[in-house]
Parts: sequence; structure tokens; C-alpha cells
Amino acid sequence: MTKSKSHRPIRHLTERVLGLVLMNGRVAGLSYRFGGHGRLKVVREEVTLGTAAQLPRPLRIGFASDFHAGPTTDPAIFDDLLAALRRERPDVLLLGGDYVSFDAANVDRLSAYLAAYAQTAPLGAYAVLGNHDVWNGSAPIVAALRAAGVNVLVNGAAALPAPFGAVSVCGIDDPWTGAPSAQATFAGSAPGALRLYLMHSPDGLWHLDGLRYDVGFAGHTHGGQIARRSGAQLFRPSGPYSRRYSFGRFDFPDNGPLFVSRGIGCAGIPLRLNADPELLICTLRATA
Ligand SMILES: [Fe+2]
Repeated sequence: MTKSKSHRPIRHLTERVLGLVLMNGRVAGLSYRFGGHGRLKVVREEVTLGTAAQLPRPLRIGFASDFHAGPTTDPAIFDDLLAALRRERPDVLLLGGDYVSFDAANVDRLSAYLAAYAQTAPLGAYAVLGNHDVWNGSAPIVAALRAAGVNVLVNGAAALPAPFGAVSVCGIDDPWTGAPSAQATFAGSAPGALRLYLMHSPDGLWHLDGLRYDVGFAGHTHGGQIARRSGAQLFRPSGPYSRRYSFGRFDFPDNGPLFVSRGIGCAGIPLRLNADPELLICTLRATA
């Protein structure tokens, strides 16, 4: 990480002022109470893999992203996510980054939830970092994630525990503010492993270097966060692939499907409109 990517005085000053205007979360509390954070939804998807896939049984993956702990997000939405995870009990939990807004110390508002989230997944929890984490200095965020029992992947891969050892979670550094390397990310997966590609934003596809994955997961876009009823977004996320693949499922002829989540919290202002927060539950099955 270079200093220019993590240390932006004008951004930090603006965010400090905004934090004061938002009364350090009180405005977000009102927003949540009156429906301004939307209602958390569980989105269910299925992927059928080829006969070569070594799955002893269907694998249920939970994916949540963009928490934005801080003045823009009321922690009640983290309670909603925890309740949903305890109901769903995915085998493994993937976390897509942007744990904080405005200040890395805001991860303290999320730490207890991270530990509780990780405990809902018997095969563990795996995380990548987002642009807001890099901007605010990611070291305390990485420390909090690790203390909560979350495996943080920065251009790295980890095999799931038995009986899913043939599945690797491959997590790339943030596509634009980090130092992403798909070569390094996938090098850590065992030959022939089924590769889950975890990236903060869909722009992780931009950095693939022709490499293949089996199923991809991204956040960052918030589904626009503020959209018309038609789904048309008032604000478009940064990054060409983030604008093209702003939320939902995308199937490609030459690679695995990509799932883009609307995320959990709010960035910038404590408001979501027609872009409800979501927990993705994705079930992978091997062809019989
Ligand atoms: Fe975000």
C-alpha cells in the first residue's frame, strides 16, 4: 500500500466534518428507525458445477459486504445480519470489505459482530479489504478481523477445512486502492482446486490476467445505494466493471458466474433507497 492511496488529507477532513454533521451516528439511528437503511434480505442463488468438482455434498456459502461501521451506518443493521446468519447457518462465510467509514477505529463498532458472524460458519470466515479500509489505514481493521477469527486474504488463498479441502477461497487486494495480483492470489490454491474468487469490487475481473475462477463474489457497488423504484441508480460506483455489473448475478462464457452484492451498510450518507441490504446464500452443487 502506498502512502498516496491511504493518506488523503482532503478526504479525511471532509469525512471528519461529515461525521460531526451526522452526530457520530445519531442521524443513522433515526434513519434506521424510519426505514432509511432498507430491510435486510436473504438472496438465494444456486450454482451447478461440472462433474469434476469434488464436493462431498452441496456447499452453502454466505456472502456479506460493505458494512461501513461508523457515523453512516446504524449498528442495528449488523444485528439484522447476525440474526439472518444464525437462521441460515452457511457452511462458510465470505466478507467483501469496506468494514468502516471515515476512520479505521470505527471497526470497534463492528468487532463483536465479526466474531459472532464467524461463529455461524463451521468452515470459517474469510475476508478481503475494500477501498474504505485502505483509505483509512487497514492495519487496525485487519487486526480486528483476525482477532474475531476471520482469515484475511490479501492476494492470497486458503483451502477450506475437511471435507471441503478441494475448495480454495482466493482473495485479491482491493482492485483500485490496493496492490492487486491475481497471479499471487491464485498461486496459493492447490492445483485442481475449485476456486472461489473473493474481491471487493467487480473490478477484480479487470485484474484477472486471463486466469479462471469457478465462482466470484464482489461488493462495493451498494446497488447504487440510492436508486429509483425501477432500479435505476442515482449514483454510479467508481470502476468500469462496477458500473457494468452493479448488482446481481452475471454469467460469463469463459469464466465462472459473478455475484455482486448490494452490501449491508451505508456509505457517505446514512440512507439506502430501493437498494436493500442483503445477505447472499449461494449453494454450490456438483453435477451428479
Ligand atoms: Fe462500500
